[in-house]
Amino acid sequence: MTIELNKEIDETRQGEATVIETTPSSNGKKLYVESYGCAMNFADSEVVASILAKEGYATTADVEEADVVLINTCSIRENAESRVRNRLTNFKSRKQRQPGLVVGILGCMAERLKKDLLEEEKLVDLVAGPDAYRDLPGLIEEVESGQKAVNVLLSRDETYADISPIRLDKNGVSSFVSITRGCDNMCSFCVVPFTRGRERSRDPQTIYNECKDLFDQGYREVTLLGQNVDSYRWNMTSKGEIKDATKPTTNFAELMDMVAGISPHLRIRFSTSHPKDMTDEVLEVIAKHENICNYIHLPVQSGNTNVLDRMNRSYTREWYLGRIEAIRRIIPDCAISTDIISGFCDETEEEHNDTISLMKEVKWDFAYMYKYSERPKTLAERRFEDNVPDDVKGKRLTEIIDLQQVHSLEANQRHVGKIQKVLIEGRSKRSEDFLAGRNDHNVKVVFPKGEFSKGDYVMVNITDCTAATLLGEVVELVNQD
Ligand code: SAH
Ligand code: SF4
Ligand code: F3S
Repeated sequence: MTIELNKEIDETRQGEATVIETTPSSNGKKLYVESYGCAMNFADSEVVASILAKEGYATTADVEEADVVLINTCSIRENAESRVRNRLTNFKSRKQRQPGLVVGILGCMAERLKKDLLEEEKLVDLVAGPDAYRDLPGLIEEVESGQKAVNVLLSRDETYADISPIRLDKNGVSSFVSITRGCDNMCSFCVVPFTRGRERSRDPQTIYNECKDLFDQGYREVTLLGQNVDSYRWNMTSKGEIKDATKPTTNFAELMDMVAGISPHLRIRFSTSHPKDMTDEVLEVIAKHENICNYIHLPVQSGNTNVLDRMNRSYTREWYLGRIEAIRRIIPDCAISTDIISGFCDETEEEHNDTISLMKEVKWDFAYMYKYSERPKTLAERRFEDNVPDDVKGKRLTEIIDLQQVHSLEANQRHVGKIQKVLIEGRSKRSEDFLAGRNDHNVKVVFPKGEFSKGDYVMVNITDCTAATLLGEVVELVNQD
Protein backbone atom coordinates (compact mmCIF):
# COMPACT_ATOMS: atom_id res chain seq x y z
CA MET A 1 0.00 0.00 0.00
CA THR A 2 1.11 3.54 -0.62
CA ILE A 3 1.00 5.82 2.36
CA GLU A 4 -0.63 8.91 1.04
CA LEU A 5 0.44 11.77 3.18
CA ASN A 6 3.59 12.14 5.12
CA LYS A 7 1.96 12.13 8.49
CA GLU A 8 -0.78 10.87 10.70
CA ILE A 9 -2.48 7.90 9.17
CA ASP A 10 -4.73 6.22 11.65
CA GLU A 11 -8.13 7.79 10.91
CA THR A 12 -7.85 7.48 7.18
CA ARG A 13 -5.71 4.45 6.76
CA GLN A 14 -5.84 2.30 9.82
CA GLY A 15 -8.43 0.09 8.21
CA GLU A 16 -5.91 -0.76 5.52
CA ALA A 17 -3.28 -2.24 7.77
CA THR A 18 -0.03 -2.38 5.90
CA VAL A 19 1.48 -5.75 5.55
CA ILE A 20 4.91 -6.24 4.27
CA GLU A 21 6.77 -7.65 1.33
CA THR A 22 8.31 -11.06 1.41
CA THR A 23 12.06 -11.26 1.96
CA PRO A 24 14.09 -14.52 2.17
CA SER A 25 14.39 -16.55 5.38
CA SER A 26 17.45 -18.27 6.76
CA ASN A 27 15.98 -19.75 9.94
CA GLY A 28 12.88 -21.13 8.23
CA LYS A 29 10.63 -18.71 10.12
CA LYS A 30 8.30 -16.05 8.84
CA LEU A 31 7.36 -12.70 10.30
CA TYR A 32 4.15 -10.82 9.58
CA VAL A 33 3.91 -7.15 10.63
CA GLU A 34 0.80 -5.02 10.58
CA SER A 35 1.15 -1.27 11.20
CA TYR A 36 -1.31 1.31 12.47
CA GLY A 37 -0.91 4.98 13.34
CA CYS A 38 1.42 7.62 12.01
CA ALA A 39 4.23 7.43 9.48
CA MET A 40 6.69 6.97 12.31
CA ASN A 41 5.13 3.62 13.14
CA PHE A 42 5.40 2.54 9.51
CA ALA A 43 9.06 3.56 9.52
CA ASP A 44 9.59 1.67 12.79
CA SER A 45 8.08 -1.51 11.34
CA GLU A 46 10.84 -1.36 8.73
CA VAL A 47 13.44 -1.14 11.50
CA VAL A 48 11.79 -4.13 13.22
CA ALA A 49 11.86 -6.15 9.97
CA SER A 50 15.55 -5.33 9.64
CA ILE A 51 16.37 -6.38 13.23
CA LEU A 52 14.56 -9.69 12.78
CA ALA A 53 15.96 -10.30 9.29
CA LYS A 54 19.40 -10.41 10.92
CA GLU A 55 18.08 -13.30 13.02
CA GLY A 56 16.97 -15.09 9.86
CA TYR A 57 13.30 -14.14 9.71
CA ALA A 58 11.66 -13.72 6.32
CA THR A 59 8.82 -11.23 6.14
CA THR A 60 5.54 -12.30 4.65
CA ALA A 61 2.39 -10.52 3.55
CA ASP A 62 0.35 -13.66 4.25
CA VAL A 63 -0.57 -13.95 7.92
CA GLU A 64 -1.54 -17.61 7.40
CA GLU A 65 2.08 -18.63 6.91
CA ALA A 66 3.56 -16.55 9.76
CA ASP A 67 5.34 -17.95 12.83
CA VAL A 68 5.54 -14.50 14.45
CA VAL A 69 2.82 -11.85 14.15
CA LEU A 70 3.62 -8.32 15.32
CA ILE A 71 1.05 -5.52 15.46
CA ASN A 72 2.53 -2.02 15.60
CA THR A 73 -0.09 0.09 17.33
CA CYS A 74 -1.32 3.65 17.88
CA SER A 75 -2.92 5.31 20.94
CA ILE A 76 -3.58 8.78 19.62
CA ARG A 77 -7.38 8.55 19.93
CA GLU A 78 -9.64 6.02 21.57
CA ASN A 79 -10.89 4.67 18.24
CA ALA A 80 -7.29 3.99 17.15
CA GLU A 81 -6.98 1.64 20.11
CA SER A 82 -10.37 -0.01 19.62
CA ARG A 83 -9.45 -0.93 16.06
CA VAL A 84 -6.37 -2.74 17.30
CA ARG A 85 -8.35 -4.52 20.02
CA ASN A 86 -10.82 -5.74 17.40
CA ARG A 87 -8.00 -6.93 15.22
CA LEU A 88 -6.40 -8.78 18.12
CA THR A 89 -9.52 -10.81 18.73
CA ASN A 90 -9.21 -12.06 15.14
CA PHE A 91 -5.97 -13.75 16.10
CA LYS A 92 -7.62 -15.68 18.93
CA SER A 93 -8.88 -18.55 16.81
CA ARG A 94 -5.65 -18.66 14.83
CA LYS A 95 -3.67 -19.03 18.01
CA GLN A 96 -5.88 -21.91 19.07
CA ARG A 97 -5.25 -23.61 15.73
CA GLN A 98 -1.50 -22.92 15.81
CA PRO A 99 -0.31 -23.11 19.43
CA GLY A 100 3.34 -22.16 18.60
CA LEU A 101 2.32 -18.89 16.99
CA VAL A 102 3.92 -15.84 18.66
CA VAL A 103 1.68 -12.75 18.76
CA GLY A 104 3.24 -9.48 19.85
CA ILE A 105 2.17 -5.89 20.31
CA LEU A 106 4.57 -3.07 19.45
CA GLY A 107 4.33 0.72 19.38
CA CYS A 108 2.35 3.26 21.33
CA MET A 109 -0.40 1.04 22.75
CA ALA A 110 2.26 -1.38 23.95
CA GLU A 111 4.01 1.47 25.73
CA ARG A 112 0.81 2.89 27.19
CA LEU A 113 -0.75 -0.33 28.43
CA LYS A 114 2.44 -2.26 29.19
CA LYS A 115 1.85 -5.66 30.72
CA ASP A 116 -1.88 -4.99 31.11
CA LEU A 117 -2.11 -6.09 27.50
CA LEU A 118 -0.84 -9.55 28.41
CA GLU A 119 -3.41 -9.99 31.10
CA GLU A 120 -6.27 -8.17 29.48
CA GLU A 121 -6.10 -9.71 26.06
CA LYS A 122 -4.67 -13.12 26.97
CA LEU A 123 -3.84 -13.75 23.33
CA VAL A 124 -0.75 -11.54 23.33
CA ASP A 125 2.58 -13.17 24.20
CA LEU A 126 4.90 -10.25 23.79
CA VAL A 127 4.81 -6.50 24.42
CA ALA A 128 7.58 -4.21 23.13
CA GLY A 129 7.57 -0.40 23.37
CA PRO A 130 9.01 1.88 20.64
CA ASP A 131 12.51 1.97 22.15
CA ALA A 132 12.75 -1.79 22.78
CA TYR A 133 12.92 -3.18 19.26
CA ARG A 134 16.56 -4.26 19.46
CA ASP A 135 15.43 -6.61 22.20
CA LEU A 136 12.83 -8.36 19.97
CA PRO A 137 14.97 -11.44 19.17
CA GLY A 138 15.46 -12.01 22.92
CA LEU A 139 11.79 -11.39 23.67
CA ILE A 140 10.69 -13.88 21.00
CA GLU A 141 13.08 -16.45 22.47
CA GLU A 142 11.54 -15.90 25.91
CA VAL A 143 8.09 -16.54 24.46
CA GLU A 144 9.32 -19.66 22.70
CA SER A 145 10.59 -20.96 26.01
CA GLY A 146 7.09 -20.67 27.42
CA GLN A 147 7.13 -17.25 29.11
CA LYS A 148 5.40 -13.99 28.39
CA ALA A 149 7.84 -11.23 27.41
CA VAL A 150 7.67 -7.47 28.04
CA ASN A 151 10.09 -4.62 27.40
CA VAL A 152 8.64 -1.14 27.54
CA LEU A 153 11.70 0.78 28.70
CA LEU A 154 11.93 4.19 27.09
CA SER A 155 15.36 5.48 26.19
CA ARG A 156 16.91 8.94 26.14
CA ASP A 157 19.16 8.17 23.21
CA GLU A 158 17.85 5.27 21.09
CA THR A 159 17.40 6.42 17.46
CA TYR A 160 18.13 3.13 15.64
CA ALA A 161 20.58 5.29 13.70
CA ASP A 162 22.79 2.39 12.60
CA ILE A 163 19.97 0.15 11.38
CA SER A 164 19.19 0.10 7.66
CA PRO A 165 15.44 -0.37 7.52
CA ILE A 166 14.08 -3.05 5.21
CA ARG A 167 11.74 -1.23 2.87
CA LEU A 168 8.36 -2.85 3.20
CA ASP A 169 6.33 -0.84 0.73
CA LYS A 170 6.00 -1.99 -2.80
CA ASN A 171 6.31 1.39 -4.43
CA GLY A 172 10.10 1.79 -4.44
CA VAL A 173 9.78 5.51 -5.18
CA SER A 174 9.12 7.28 -1.89
CA SER A 175 10.24 6.42 1.60
CA PHE A 176 10.12 7.67 5.17
CA VAL A 177 13.31 8.47 7.06
CA SER A 178 13.08 9.15 10.81
CA ILE A 179 15.18 12.08 12.01
CA THR A 180 13.93 12.50 15.57
CA ARG A 181 12.11 10.30 18.06
CA GLY A 182 9.88 11.24 20.98
CA CYS A 183 8.44 14.63 21.85
CA ASP A 184 9.11 17.14 24.65
CA ASN A 185 6.16 19.40 23.98
CA MET A 186 3.45 18.11 26.29
CA CYS A 187 0.43 19.39 24.40
CA SER A 188 -2.26 18.76 26.99
CA PHE A 189 -4.42 16.51 24.76
CA CYS A 190 -1.60 14.33 23.49
CA VAL A 191 -0.47 10.87 24.52
CA VAL A 192 2.71 10.86 22.37
CA PRO A 193 5.15 12.18 25.02
CA PHE A 194 4.04 9.26 27.23
CA THR A 195 4.29 6.60 24.54
CA ARG A 196 7.40 7.80 22.72
CA GLY A 197 9.38 9.39 25.52
CA ARG A 198 11.85 12.26 25.39
CA GLU A 199 12.80 13.91 22.16
CA ARG A 200 16.15 12.96 20.61
CA SER A 201 17.78 13.64 17.26
CA ARG A 202 19.49 11.14 15.02
CA ASP A 203 23.09 11.54 13.80
CA PRO A 204 22.87 13.66 10.61
CA GLN A 205 25.47 11.60 8.78
CA THR A 206 23.36 8.44 9.19
CA ILE A 207 20.32 10.33 7.86
CA TYR A 208 22.32 11.57 4.87
CA ASN A 209 23.65 8.06 4.18
CA GLU A 210 20.20 6.48 4.39
CA CYS A 211 18.76 9.06 1.96
CA LYS A 212 21.71 8.65 -0.41
CA ASP A 213 21.32 4.84 -0.37
CA LEU A 214 17.63 5.22 -1.12
CA PHE A 215 18.41 7.48 -4.07
CA ASP A 216 21.02 5.03 -5.35
CA GLN A 217 18.42 2.23 -5.13
CA GLY A 218 16.06 4.23 -7.36
CA TYR A 219 13.96 6.06 -4.77
CA ARG A 220 13.09 9.61 -5.77
CA GLU A 221 11.42 10.99 -2.65
CA VAL A 222 12.23 10.95 1.07
CA THR A 223 10.04 12.29 3.85
CA LEU A 224 12.02 13.32 6.90
CA LEU A 225 9.97 12.35 9.93
CA GLY A 226 9.64 13.58 13.48
CA GLN A 227 6.83 14.68 15.81
CA ASN A 228 8.36 18.14 15.62
CA VAL A 229 10.99 18.24 12.87
CA ASP A 230 11.84 21.88 13.48
CA SER A 231 13.30 21.03 16.85
CA TYR A 232 15.83 18.66 15.24
CA ARG A 233 19.21 19.49 16.74
CA TRP A 234 22.39 17.47 16.71
CA ASN A 235 25.10 18.04 19.32
CA MET A 236 23.00 20.75 20.99
CA THR A 237 20.90 20.80 24.13
CA SER A 238 17.27 21.89 23.99
CA LYS A 239 18.48 25.35 25.09
CA GLY A 240 20.80 25.52 22.09
CA GLU A 241 24.04 25.00 24.04
CA ILE A 242 26.75 22.99 22.27
CA LYS A 243 27.26 19.56 23.83
CA ASP A 244 30.70 18.68 22.42
CA ALA A 245 32.76 21.66 21.23
CA THR A 246 35.04 19.44 19.13
CA LYS A 247 32.15 18.35 16.88
CA PRO A 248 29.87 20.26 14.51
CA THR A 249 26.26 21.02 15.35
CA THR A 250 23.34 20.60 12.93
CA ASN A 251 19.88 22.15 13.06
CA PHE A 252 16.87 21.24 10.91
CA ALA A 253 17.58 23.86 8.24
CA GLU A 254 21.17 22.62 7.91
CA LEU A 255 20.04 18.99 7.79
CA MET A 256 17.59 19.73 4.97
CA ASP A 257 20.28 21.64 3.12
CA MET A 258 22.58 18.59 3.37
CA VAL A 259 19.97 16.08 2.24
CA ALA A 260 18.75 18.30 -0.61
CA GLY A 261 22.32 18.30 -1.93
CA ILE A 262 22.25 14.53 -2.60
CA SER A 263 20.68 15.03 -6.03
CA PRO A 264 18.33 17.54 -7.64
CA HIS A 265 16.23 14.48 -8.58
CA LEU A 266 15.62 13.45 -4.98
CA ARG A 267 12.52 15.17 -3.65
CA ILE A 268 12.54 16.09 0.02
CA ARG A 269 9.43 16.31 2.15
CA PHE A 270 9.22 16.63 5.94
CA SER A 271 6.64 16.29 8.66
CA THR A 272 5.53 17.57 11.15
CA SER A 273 6.35 21.23 11.65
CA HIS A 274 5.38 22.89 14.91
CA PRO A 275 4.30 26.54 14.61
CA LYS A 276 6.29 27.59 17.67
CA ASP A 277 9.57 26.25 16.26
CA MET A 278 9.34 26.78 12.50
CA THR A 279 12.08 29.31 11.74
CA ASP A 280 12.62 31.63 8.78
CA GLU A 281 15.95 29.83 8.29
CA VAL A 282 14.01 26.63 7.49
CA LEU A 283 11.72 28.52 5.11
CA GLU A 284 14.74 30.02 3.35
CA VAL A 285 16.28 26.57 2.82
CA ILE A 286 12.99 25.36 1.32
CA ALA A 287 12.92 28.38 -0.99
CA LYS A 288 16.57 27.82 -1.98
CA HIS A 289 16.20 24.20 -3.15
CA GLU A 290 13.92 23.30 -6.01
CA ASN A 291 13.84 19.69 -4.78
CA ILE A 292 12.54 20.53 -1.28
CA CYS A 293 8.79 20.44 -1.84
CA ASN A 294 6.79 23.61 -1.35
CA TYR A 295 4.46 22.00 1.11
CA ILE A 296 4.27 22.51 4.87
CA HIS A 297 2.06 20.64 7.29
CA LEU A 298 1.56 23.09 10.14
CA PRO A 299 -1.00 21.80 12.66
CA VAL A 300 -2.96 24.61 14.31
CA GLN A 301 -5.44 22.53 16.43
CA SER A 302 -7.65 25.57 17.23
CA GLY A 303 -8.18 29.14 16.07
CA ASN A 304 -8.77 30.48 19.57
CA THR A 305 -5.88 31.61 21.77
CA ASN A 306 -7.53 30.54 25.04
CA VAL A 307 -8.12 27.05 23.68
CA LEU A 308 -4.52 26.95 22.42
CA ASP A 309 -3.43 27.93 25.90
CA ARG A 310 -5.49 25.10 27.47
CA MET A 311 -3.97 22.80 24.88
CA ASN A 312 -0.49 23.97 25.97
CA ARG A 313 0.49 24.62 22.35
CA SER A 314 2.80 27.57 23.29
CA TYR A 315 1.54 29.91 20.57
CA THR A 316 -1.39 32.24 19.96
CA ARG A 317 -3.70 32.67 16.98
CA GLU A 318 -1.66 35.77 16.05
CA TRP A 319 1.65 33.89 16.24
CA TYR A 320 0.27 31.21 13.94
CA LEU A 321 -0.91 33.86 11.47
CA GLY A 322 2.57 35.41 11.64
CA ARG A 323 4.09 32.05 10.60
CA ILE A 324 1.62 31.80 7.69
CA GLU A 325 2.63 35.31 6.63
CA ALA A 326 6.33 34.30 6.78
CA ILE A 327 5.69 31.20 4.64
CA ARG A 328 3.84 33.24 2.02
CA ARG A 329 6.55 35.91 2.00
CA ILE A 330 9.54 33.57 1.76
CA ILE A 331 7.97 30.77 -0.34
CA PRO A 332 5.25 32.49 -2.38
CA ASP A 333 3.94 29.27 -3.96
CA CYS A 334 3.64 26.98 -0.95
CA ALA A 335 0.83 24.61 0.00
CA ILE A 336 -0.05 24.58 3.69
CA SER A 337 -2.08 21.94 5.50
CA THR A 338 -3.13 21.58 9.11
CA ASP A 339 -4.69 19.49 11.88
CA ILE A 340 -7.79 20.67 13.75
CA ILE A 341 -9.40 19.25 16.89
CA SER A 342 -13.08 19.96 17.56
CA GLY A 343 -14.67 20.02 21.00
CA PHE A 344 -11.62 20.24 23.24
CA CYS A 345 -12.37 20.66 26.96
CA ASP A 346 -14.52 23.74 27.76
CA GLU A 347 -14.62 24.81 24.09
CA THR A 348 -17.46 27.34 23.70
CA GLU A 349 -19.42 28.06 20.54
CA GLU A 350 -17.50 31.35 20.28
CA GLU A 351 -14.15 29.60 20.54
CA HIS A 352 -15.24 27.12 17.88
CA ASN A 353 -16.26 30.05 15.67
CA ASP A 354 -12.71 31.38 15.98
CA THR A 355 -11.51 28.12 14.39
CA ILE A 356 -13.99 28.66 11.57
CA SER A 357 -12.86 32.26 11.10
CA LEU A 358 -9.19 31.21 11.09
CA MET A 359 -10.01 28.61 8.43
CA LYS A 360 -11.52 31.38 6.30
CA GLU A 361 -8.48 33.56 6.88
CA VAL A 362 -5.77 30.99 6.15
CA LYS A 363 -7.61 28.75 3.66
CA TRP A 364 -5.48 25.67 4.18
CA ASP A 365 -5.03 23.50 1.13
CA PHE A 366 -5.78 20.38 3.12
CA ALA A 367 -6.60 19.39 6.72
CA TYR A 368 -6.86 16.41 9.02
CA MET A 369 -9.79 17.01 11.34
CA TYR A 370 -10.66 15.15 14.53
CA LYS A 371 -13.07 15.08 17.44
CA TYR A 372 -11.26 15.49 20.74
CA SER A 373 -10.70 12.13 22.39
CA GLU A 374 -9.57 12.16 26.01
CA ARG A 375 -6.43 10.13 26.62
CA PRO A 376 -5.48 8.69 30.01
CA LYS A 377 -2.68 10.42 31.98
CA THR A 378 -2.47 13.44 29.67
CA LEU A 379 -2.43 16.94 31.17
CA ALA A 380 -5.94 17.56 29.81
CA GLU A 381 -7.29 14.45 31.48
CA ARG A 382 -5.84 15.54 34.80
CA ARG A 383 -6.68 19.24 34.57
CA PHE A 384 -9.91 19.58 32.64
CA GLU A 385 -13.22 17.91 32.09
CA ASP A 386 -14.03 16.35 28.71
CA ASN A 387 -17.27 18.30 28.87
CA VAL A 388 -18.25 19.09 25.27
CA PRO A 389 -21.05 16.59 24.50
CA ASP A 390 -20.27 14.13 21.74
CA ASP A 391 -23.06 15.42 19.49
CA VAL A 392 -21.72 18.98 19.81
CA LYS A 393 -18.18 17.78 18.97
CA GLY A 394 -19.68 16.00 15.97
CA LYS A 395 -21.66 19.02 14.80
CA ARG A 396 -18.61 21.29 15.06
CA LEU A 397 -16.46 18.72 13.27
CA THR A 398 -18.96 18.48 10.41
CA GLU A 399 -18.93 22.25 10.05
CA ILE A 400 -15.13 22.22 9.94
CA ILE A 401 -15.01 19.35 7.42
CA ASP A 402 -17.62 20.96 5.15
CA LEU A 403 -15.71 24.24 5.06
CA GLN A 404 -12.39 22.49 4.45
CA GLN A 405 -13.96 20.63 1.55
CA VAL A 406 -14.74 23.98 -0.10
CA HIS A 407 -11.20 25.26 0.54
CA SER A 408 -9.57 22.05 -0.75
CA LEU A 409 -11.59 22.24 -3.95
CA GLU A 410 -10.65 25.91 -4.39
CA ALA A 411 -6.99 25.08 -3.80
CA ASN A 412 -7.11 22.32 -6.40
CA GLN A 413 -8.90 24.53 -8.90
CA ARG A 414 -5.94 26.91 -8.73
CA HIS A 415 -3.77 24.13 -10.22
CA VAL A 416 -6.00 23.70 -13.27
CA GLY A 417 -4.46 25.18 -16.42
CA LYS A 418 -0.91 24.91 -15.06
CA ILE A 419 1.90 22.60 -16.13
CA GLN A 420 3.35 20.88 -13.06
CA LYS A 421 6.18 18.50 -12.28
CA VAL A 422 4.87 15.17 -11.02
CA LEU A 423 6.79 12.23 -9.56
CA ILE A 424 5.09 9.01 -10.72
CA GLU A 425 4.35 6.62 -7.85
CA GLY A 426 2.57 3.88 -9.78
CA ARG A 427 -0.71 2.85 -11.29
CA SER A 428 -3.84 4.78 -10.45
CA LYS A 429 -6.13 2.87 -8.08
CA ARG A 430 -9.09 3.63 -10.30
CA SER A 431 -7.84 2.38 -13.64
CA GLU A 432 -5.02 0.33 -15.16
CA ASP A 433 -4.75 2.82 -17.99
CA PHE A 434 -3.82 5.67 -15.68
CA LEU A 435 -0.78 6.49 -13.56
CA ALA A 436 -0.74 8.49 -10.33
CA GLY A 437 1.84 10.69 -8.69
CA ARG A 438 2.12 13.89 -6.70
CA ASN A 439 2.93 17.46 -7.54
CA ASP A 440 5.21 19.65 -5.45
CA HIS A 441 2.21 20.63 -3.29
CA ASN A 442 1.59 16.99 -2.39
CA VAL A 443 -1.65 16.77 -4.36
CA LYS A 444 -2.36 13.52 -6.16
CA VAL A 445 -2.30 13.84 -9.96
CA VAL A 446 -3.81 11.18 -12.25
CA PHE A 447 -3.12 10.96 -15.99
CA PRO A 448 -3.16 8.47 -18.92
CA LYS A 449 -0.19 6.12 -18.59
CA GLY A 450 1.49 6.51 -21.99
CA GLU A 451 5.01 5.07 -21.98
CA PHE A 452 5.90 6.31 -18.51
CA SER A 453 6.93 4.37 -15.41
CA LYS A 454 7.09 4.87 -11.66
CA GLY A 455 10.08 6.90 -10.57
CA ASP A 456 9.85 9.13 -13.67
CA TYR A 457 9.31 12.84 -13.31
CA VAL A 458 6.86 14.16 -15.88
CA MET A 459 5.47 17.59 -16.68
CA VAL A 460 1.69 17.34 -16.54
CA ASN A 461 -0.84 19.80 -17.92
CA ILE A 462 -3.56 19.91 -15.26
CA THR A 463 -6.95 19.91 -16.96
CA ASP A 464 -9.49 19.15 -14.22
CA CYS A 465 -9.84 18.41 -10.50
CA THR A 466 -11.91 17.17 -7.58
CA ALA A 467 -11.39 18.25 -3.95
CA ALA A 468 -8.90 15.40 -3.60
CA THR A 469 -7.29 14.79 -7.00
CA LEU A 470 -5.97 16.57 -10.06
CA LEU A 471 -6.40 15.17 -13.57
CA GLY A 472 -4.13 15.94 -16.50
CA GLU A 473 -2.00 14.86 -19.42
CA VAL A 474 1.75 14.46 -19.68
CA VAL A 475 3.39 17.02 -21.92
CA GLU A 476 7.01 16.03 -21.33
CA LEU A 477 9.28 13.52 -19.59
CA VAL A 478 11.89 15.22 -17.39
CA ASN A 479 15.44 14.15 -18.18
CA GLN A 480 17.15 12.82 -15.02
CA ASP A 481 20.71 12.68 -16.37
N1 SAH B 1 3.40 16.06 16.41
C1 SAH B 1 2.36 16.50 15.60
C2 SAH B 1 1.08 15.72 15.68
C3 SAH B 1 1.04 14.34 16.14
S1 SAH B 1 -0.53 13.63 16.42
C4 SAH B 1 2.06 17.93 15.96
O1 SAH B 1 2.36 18.40 17.01
O2 SAH B 1 1.44 18.57 15.16
C5 SAH B 1 -1.44 14.09 14.99
C6 SAH B 1 -2.66 14.88 15.28
O3 SAH B 1 -3.59 14.12 16.01
C7 SAH B 1 -2.48 16.12 16.11
O4 SAH B 1 -1.97 17.21 15.38
C8 SAH B 1 -3.86 16.38 16.63
O5 SAH B 1 -4.61 17.17 15.74
C9 SAH B 1 -4.47 14.99 16.69
N2 SAH B 1 -4.62 14.54 18.07
C10 SAH B 1 -3.63 14.28 18.95
N3 SAH B 1 -4.18 13.91 20.14
C11 SAH B 1 -5.52 13.94 19.99
C12 SAH B 1 -6.63 13.68 20.85
N4 SAH B 1 -6.44 13.34 22.11
N5 SAH B 1 -7.88 13.79 20.34
C13 SAH B 1 -8.07 14.16 19.05
N6 SAH B 1 -7.08 14.43 18.21
C14 SAH B 1 -5.81 14.33 18.67
FE1 SF4 C 1 1.73 15.55 20.64
FE2 SF4 C 1 2.17 18.14 20.79
FE3 SF4 C 1 4.22 16.46 20.64
FE4 SF4 C 1 2.67 16.83 18.53
S1 SF4 C 1 3.97 18.38 19.49
S2 SF4 C 1 3.38 14.89 19.34
S3 SF4 C 1 0.67 17.11 19.42
S4 SF4 C 1 2.79 16.63 22.34
FE1 F3S D 1 -0.13 7.05 17.10
FE2 F3S D 1 2.08 6.78 18.40
FE3 F3S D 1 2.10 7.87 16.02
S1 F3S D 1 0.16 7.38 19.27
S2 F3S D 1 0.10 8.87 15.92
S3 F3S D 1 1.56 5.80 16.47
S4 F3S D 1 3.45 8.38 17.71
